[in-house]
Amino acid sequence: MKRVTAFVGSARKKHTHDAVVQFLSNLQSMGDIEYEIVRLSDYRLEACRGCKVCFAKGEEHCPSKDDRDVLIQKIMASDGVVFASPNYSFHVSGIMKTFLDRLGFAFHRPLFFGKTSTSIVTQGIHGGNKIVGYLDFASWGLGFNTVKGSCHTAFEPMTEKEKQKMDRVLAGQARRYYAILEKPAYPVPTLFKLMIFRFSRTSMRLELDDRSRDYRYYMEKGWFESDYYYPTRLGVLKKGAGKLFDLVQARVTRAKYR
Ligand SMILES: Cc1cc2nc3c(=O)[nH]c(=O)nc-3n(C[C@H](O)[C@H](O)[C@H](O)COP(=O)(O)O)c2cc1C
Repeated sequence: MKRVTAFVGSARKKHTHDAVVQFLSNLQSMGDIEYEIVRLSDYRLEACRGCKVCFAKGEEHCPSKDDRDVLIQKIMASDGVVFASPNYSFHVSGIMKTFLDRLGFAFHRPLFFGKTSTSIVTQGIHGGNKIVGYLDFASWGLGFNTVKGSCHTAFEPMTEKEKQKMDRVLAGQARRYYAILEKPAYPVPTLFKLMIFRFSRTSMRLELDDRSRDYRYYMEKGWFESDYYYPTRLGVLKKGAGKLFDLVQARVTRAKYR
């Protein structure tokens, strides 16, 4: 049995909610899936105050006392998640952005390895594909194995043709998502992902010290020495590329302080 949690950034049960339900019932038709739909508007989420205490000292020192940790626990208890949002003013809805900001520390200290994610965006007219790209990139940055999301365009009420198109796209997305959910959860990173890891750990090693929570986290995880965030078998080419990325970033960082 796999557990999937969908985080929905619309306060009403309309297009975004319906698309999520359709996606999840597709998943259930493929295997043993238990799911929960979490409407973010049912939870207390405060706007990030920007103090950066979570980066420097740890997320437990955040001055906002809201439902962030309840939602993080839901992710932790899941094998996969869905980030679903309507397009509001050419971006995710405010509540979805607030949620992602509340997870901001985990962009520095990724947490959600081995879990699958995807995104669903609905919109009236235009701009949603960029939002899908944003959500997919953000969830990858949090550590998820990300399956490309989808954008669905419809006025109200949704026409039969729009509904058929949405169902078709969501069926394909659910198939791809299910395949990743079922696969080994720690895939070999692409060259790009490897580069991001090696660049960030090298600059962190050279620019921070053990007064920083980020630095200590990387130390605890062994990330200053490891090939990647998690044990993986890099081929000869990627091993070499990894070393090169470390060297390049070390030169760039040192040049910054010269
Ligand atoms: C405040 C607000 C801003 C919106 N901005 C856009 C927009 O920039 N582009 C767009 O295509 N649709 C926009 N829409 C339309 C919604 O994205 C669309 O109706 C969506 O399907 C609503 O999702 P829901 O039914 O789950 O609430 C906006 C709607 C609202 C309420």
